[in-house]
Amino acid sequence: MAAPGDVVVVSNRGPVSFTRADDGSLIPLRGSGGLVSGLSPVVASTGALWVAAAMSDPDREAAAQGTMDVDGLRVRLVDIDAVTFTAAYEVVCNANLWFVHHGLFDATHRPAHDHRFDAAWASYRHVNVAMADAVAKEAPEGAVVLVQDYHLTLVARFLADLRPDLRCVHFTHTPFTDPDGLRLLPDAAATEMLAGLGAHVACGFHTQRWADRFVACCTERGVTAPPTFVAPLGPDPDDLASSAASPAVATASQAITSLAGGRRLVVRVDRIEPSKNIVRGLRAFDLLLTQYPQWREKVTFAAFIYPSRETLPEYLAYRQEATSTVAWVNERWGTADWVPVVANLGDDYPTSLAALGAYDVLLVNPIRDGLNLVAKEGPLLNGHDGVLVLSSEAGAADELGDAALVVNPFDLAATAEALHRALTMGDPERAERATALRSLAAAHSPHTWFDAQVAAAEPNGP
Ligand code: G6P
Repeated sequence: MAAPGDVVVVSNRGPVSFTRADDGSLIPLRGSGGLVSGLSPVVASTGALWVAAAMSDPDREAAAQGTMDVDGLRVRLVDIDAVTFTAAYEVVCNANLWFVHHGLFDATHRPAHDHRFDAAWASYRHVNVAMADAVAKEAPEGAVVLVQDYHLTLVARFLADLRPDLRCVHFTHTPFTDPDGLRLLPDAAATEMLAGLGAHVACGFHTQRWADRFVACCTERGVTAPPTFVAPLGPDPDDLASSAASPAVATASQAITSLAGGRRLVVRVDRIEPSKNIVRGLRAFDLLLTQYPQWREKVTFAAFIYPSRETLPEYLAYRQEATSTVAWVNERWGTADWVPVVANLGDDYPTSLAALGAYDVLLVNPIRDGLNLVAKEGPLLNGHDGVLVLSSEAGAADELGDAALVVNPFDLAATAEALHRALTMGDPERAERATALRSLAAAHSPHTWFDAQVAAAEPNGP
C-alpha cells in the first residue's frame, strides 16, 4: 500500500479558505461542509498533500504562496480565473450535476440546455485541466491520487497523459444518477463525464446502490466502467465526543433544554438544500399534529437549518418556502405557551451538537442523499435513546435501516406515522434500537474510509 506521504487528495473545496482582515492581511478559516470535515482529520494524520481550488479572491491571492502548512495540513490551492471557476462550479456542478445526481429537476420545465451550458462545460473541463496540472507538478513519483466528487470527474483523464506513473482513485460523495436521470444532461457532457470517471483505476461510493447506477450508466453509454468499491464514511466517535464535551456545547445544551420546556423534542440538522426535503418534513409534522391531537403542546420540532448556495435561485426559493412553512405550522397550531416549530437558521455547530445530544426523535428525510452523516452523528451523540426516522433514499439507510424507522421521503402520511410511532415507542425498544444504531454508526471511521480508497489503487483492489 502507498506510504502516507505518497498520497495526494484532490477536491474542489479545500480544508482552508481565506478572508481578508481590515489591515489587508489574509486570515485562514476552516473550510466548511461534510466532505472537508470528514477528510481533514485523516489527511492531517497521514501527511498527504491536499490540492483544492481557490474559491474566492483571497484564496486566489493565498494560492500564490504555493504549498502551505495550515493546522497540520499540507495544502496547495489552485488559482483558476474567477469567471471560469464560477461557470464550472455554479452552472455545471451546483445547478446541473448536483440536481441530476439528487433527482431534483422538475422535468416539466428544467433543465433546458442552450449554448450557455456548452460554455460552462468548457469551463468545467478547464478547471479539471488546471487541477490535473497542479497535481502533476506536486505529486511524488508513483503517488496515489484520491480525487473527490462530481466537481472533478475529468482530472484522471488529463493526468493519464501528464503523469502516467500516478494511480487515480475517484470517490463520489453524492448519490449517482441512474441512466434515465443521466439523460437530463446533454449527451456529449454525460458521456465525457463517464469516460473521465472511467480513467480512474477504481471508483468508490458510499453504498452499493450508487455504484450499481454508475455501472448501469457506463453500460448504457458504451463506456468501460472501472472496478467499483463501496466505502461508507463514518464519523470519528472520539472526535465527536471531544467536540461535544466543549463548554460551548454545555451552554447550548441548557438553551435546548429550555427550548424544549419539558416537551418531547423532534430535531433535524441540515443545510437549507432542496435535496434535504425540509418542507415535506414540516408538512409531515403538521400532519402528526392534525392526526394525533394528543401531541399538541406536547412536542417541539427544533429545525437547525442553515443557508447554503444562496447564489442559486432554487436555494433562495427553497429557503423562503421552508421559513413560510414554519410560520404556517406555527400559526395553525401554536398557543400562548407553545411554539410548535422552532427554526434556527444560524450555522451554529455547538448548538447542532447539543440538539443531537438531546433529541427524542431525529428526522433525516432527504429526497436522495449520498450518505448523510447526521444520521450517524446523531445516534453517537444522543443521550436519550432517541429514535431515528430515516429516509429510505439516504445512503446511510443501507447501513442503519434495521435500527431506524425507515420512511419513503415523499410519503407525508407515512412520515407522520413514523414520527408518532417514534414518540410512542416504549423504553425497551428505544434502548435496543439506540444501542444498535450506535454500533452501526461507529462501524466505519474516516480512517477506514480513507484506507479503502488507498487500497483501491492497489492492483488487487480493496
Ligand atoms: C456536501 C456533499 C459533498 C459535496 C459538498 C459540496 O457536503 O455531501 O458531496 O462535495 O456538499 O459543497 P460545496 O459547498 O463545496 O458546494
